[in-house]
Amino acid sequence: MEVGSGKLLFHKKISQESEHAKYGGVVPELASRLHAVYLPMILEQTKEYLPHLKAVAVTNEPGLSVTLNEGVMMAKALSISLNIPIIEVNHLVGHIYSIFIEKEATFPLSVLLVSGGHTMILEAFSIDDVRVIASTMDDSFGESFDKCAKLLNLGYPGGPAIERAAREGSEDRFAFTLPLRGKTVAFSYSGIKNAFRVEVEKSEELTPVDVSDLCASFQKVAIEHLLDKVERYFEASRIESDYFAIVGGASANLRLRENITELCEKYGKKPLFAKLEYCSDNAAMIARVGLELYEKGRFSEAKNVDVSPKNRVLKF
Ligand code: KG4
Ligand code: ZN
Repeated sequence: MEVGSGKLLFHKKISQESEHAKYGGVVPELASRLHAVYLPMILEQTKEYLPHLKAVAVTNEPGLSVTLNEGVMMAKALSISLNIPIIEVNHLVGHIYSIFIEKEATFPLSVLLVSGGHTMILEAFSIDDVRVIASTMDDSFGESFDKCAKLLNLGYPGGPAIERAAREGSEDRFAFTLPLRGKTVAFSYSGIKNAFRVEVEKSEELTPVDVSDLCASFQKVAIEHLLDKVERYFEASRIESDYFAIVGGASANLRLRENITELCEKYGKKPLFAKLEYCSDNAAMIARVGLELYEKGRFSEAKNVDVSPKNRVLKF
């Protein structure tokens, strides 16, 4: 990404999804080994840009330490060999900035973050002041799609597979209970996932119609739960922002996009979505945060950069 213009000069994503699909989820050891193969492949393609780099932005939290380390080690090698600083980027702040790629950032902002590891309502007042308003008590939204898809052998990631199967299905056939009814603004997906498992195990052999109906009924309640809590948040929130951003890998779900847009209209909020290609984890969103921190001079030396499986930036 170009300092000054914010233009994305090069972007490439090599997905590991097909390699992890046969295990029904991300296998850390495999992810780490594949990073060691794919990261140099991408580096090879960026050779012409390397002499012009002013800094290298890398995500070092939160996430799987083994894979964060692969990226951080490459950033350290670039930093030392090119004599440029490192910019440490929080993965979740990266997701927020996925809506600002090649755009000005605007704050304050309410955010719904739905990914494989997180389900959160956030209030962002600046790049350095992001507060967690609500989060999940157990599984995350995306994770529940992954686990339910695994039960049906639909592969990984489960989100797109369930969304696809749900298109043909009847969403009223299975009545899964809406979790955490009441005023609490928090999320819980383990109950829906367990109820789903019970339905799957009831039947000796599921027909394609059963699979579609299960997916449609699951997706309906999973999204209803999000909408229910976002609505409670809208009712209680005092934030002075006309915008509501929906980010993270699961924000690619078209049904979710439609339903959130309707809810935003009801509360006079403008929904902000990232382009579909920037919803799931990607380097452009990390570079976008890097650009913002570059302008603030927030640099780190290679020897001081470590990784953390936990978030150290968002405030609870
Ligand atoms: O942000 P992301 O790429 O990685 C994490 O930071 O976790 O999100 C990946 C998650 C996976 O759980 C995946 O199943 C989910 O996002 N996802 C979806 C959809 N596309 C991806 N969930 C529901 N519907 C989708 N269309
Ligand atoms: Zn992510």
